[in-house]
Amino acid sequence: MRRDELSKVILPEDRMPKFWYNVQADMPNPLEPGLNPQTHKPLTPADLEPIFARELIAQEVSTERFIEIPKAVRQLYKQFRPSPLFRAHNLEKALDTTCRIYYKYEGVSPVGSHKLNSALPQVYFNKMQGIKRITTETGAGQWGTALSLACKQFGLEAMVYMVKVSYQQKPYRRSIMELYGGSCIPSPSTLTASGRRAIEENPDTPGTLAIAISEAVEDALSRDDTNYSLGSVLNHVCLHQTIIGQEVKLQMEMVDDFPDIVVGCCGGGSNMAGIALPFIPDKLAGKKIRLVAVEPAACPTLTKGKFAYDYGDSVGLTPMLKMYTLGHGFTPSGIHAGGLRYHGASPLLSQLYHDALIEAVAVKQNQTFEAAMLFARTESIVPAPESSHAIRAAIDEALKAKEEGVSKTIVFNLSGHGQLDLFSYDKFLAGQTEDIELSKEEIEESLKYLPEV
Ligand SMILES: Cc1ncc(COP(=O)(O)O)c(C=O)c1O
Repeated sequence: MRRDELSKVILPEDRMPKFWYNVQADMPNPLEPGLNPQTHKPLTPADLEPIFARELIAQEVSTERFIEIPKAVRQLYKQFRPSPLFRAHNLEKALDTTCRIYYKYEGVSPVGSHKLNSALPQVYFNKMQGIKRITTETGAGQWGTALSLACKQFGLEAMVYMVKVSYQQKPYRRSIMELYGGSCIPSPSTLTASGRRAIEENPDTPGTLAIAISEAVEDALSRDDTNYSLGSVLNHVCLHQTIIGQEVKLQMEMVDDFPDIVVGCCGGGSNMAGIALPFIPDKLAGKKIRLVAVEPAACPTLTKGKFAYDYGDSVGLTPMLKMYTLGHGFTPSGIHAGGLRYHGASPLLSQLYHDALIEAVAVKQNQTFEAAMLFARTESIVPAPESSHAIRAAIDEALKAKEEGVSKTIVFNLSGHGQLDLFSYDKFLAGQTEDIELSKEEIEESLKYLPEV
C-alpha cells in the first residue's frame, strides 16, 4: 500500500525492541552528578539504596548505549506493545495542510498511558531484590494506576499518594488503582510528617507532586520491606520510555518516512524523553530534526525556569538534581493537566535543552482543550489533557508550515487517552477553564528558595 493511503503503521510483535536506548552514551555534555541532600556531595549508590532497587540505581548512572529489557518485562510489554503509529489523515484535512502528521498512541496500554512502560521494569527490578511493597506519588493518577497494575502483576503491594486536587477531580482513577489491589490516598495526608506539615502551612492546599513525593519517600524510608518508585524525571524512567521512540523509528522506516519535527508534552519529561531521545544520535549526526517539548504556561519549567540544583520534593528528602526548575516549593495552579504540574524537568532533557538539542514551548490551557476537541472530532480519540499539549504544538507547527508554504513530517506522542478526564472536558465545554500564565515576579519569588550549592 502507498504511504499516503495508510492509516496506521503496525510493527510486528517480533520486531519490538529488546533494548532500551541510553542517551547518556551520546550526550555531548554529560549530566552533572546528583547531590546528597544532607552533605551536598555527589551521590553514591549507598545514598540511594534505602529507597531504590540496585539495578535501577545502576541504570541511573550507566553510560552503556543499550540496556537489555528483561525477558519477563518484554513478555508483559507484548500485551500492548508495539503500540500503533497513526497517520492523522482527518486532522490534516481539517487543517488543510500538506504536512504529514503522525501520532504514536500510548493510550492502548491497559492503564491508558505510557506510564506502564516504566512501572513494569521498576517493579520487576524491585521484586528481584526481594522488596514487598512500593510507595509512589501520582498527579493525574495515570502513574499510580500503572504502578498498581505492575505491582499486582509481580505480586507486590502498592501505596499511592495522589495529589489532592486530582484525587477530587478524577475519582475513577482511585477506583482503578483499588481494583488492581493498590491503596490510594489524597496528598497531603496525615499519615506522614511531610503531609502534616503541608496541611499545617496551608490547610486548603490543592497538593503538589512535590509534596506527594515527600510523603511517598518518607513512607519508604520508614520500612525495610518498602522501596519508592518515581514515575518520571529520573534517568532510569526516561530510559524505560525509549521503547516508544525506537518503535517510532522502525515504523517510520516501514513507510519510508522520517520526521522533521518530533513533539511530546512535558511534565517531568518521561514521555517526551521516550519519543525524542532515540532521535538524538540522528540529530548529532547532522539530520535536520527538531525535538519539541510542550509544557503548560501555568507551569513553564523549561521555558521560564532556572537550570540549577534543586530538590525533587517539597521538603528536601530527595537528592538534589541539576535541572530546569521553578523551585521545589512552587505550587502550580490547579490546571486540568495534573500530570504536567511539576516544578522540575528531567535532568537528561534539561541538559539537552541547555545544549540546544531539544526545544521547548509553553501553551495555555484553553488552546490545548481546543486542540483536544479538534483532535477528538477528527481522529476520534479523546486525548488526555496532558497529551493535548503535544497536539496543540503539532497543530501549531502544521499551521506555521502552511503559512510558510512548506510541507513537514510531524510526529507527536499521544501519551494517553482522556476517558477518565471528562470532569475536565465538562469544565472546558462549560467555558469554565482558565488561562493561567505565571508572572515573572511569581517565578522569581519561588526561585529564591533554591538550595545553595
Ligand atoms: C497521559 C500523560 N502524559 C504525560 C504525562 C506527564 O508525564 P511525563 O512528562 O513524565 O511524561 C502524564 C503524567 O501523569 C500523563 O498522565
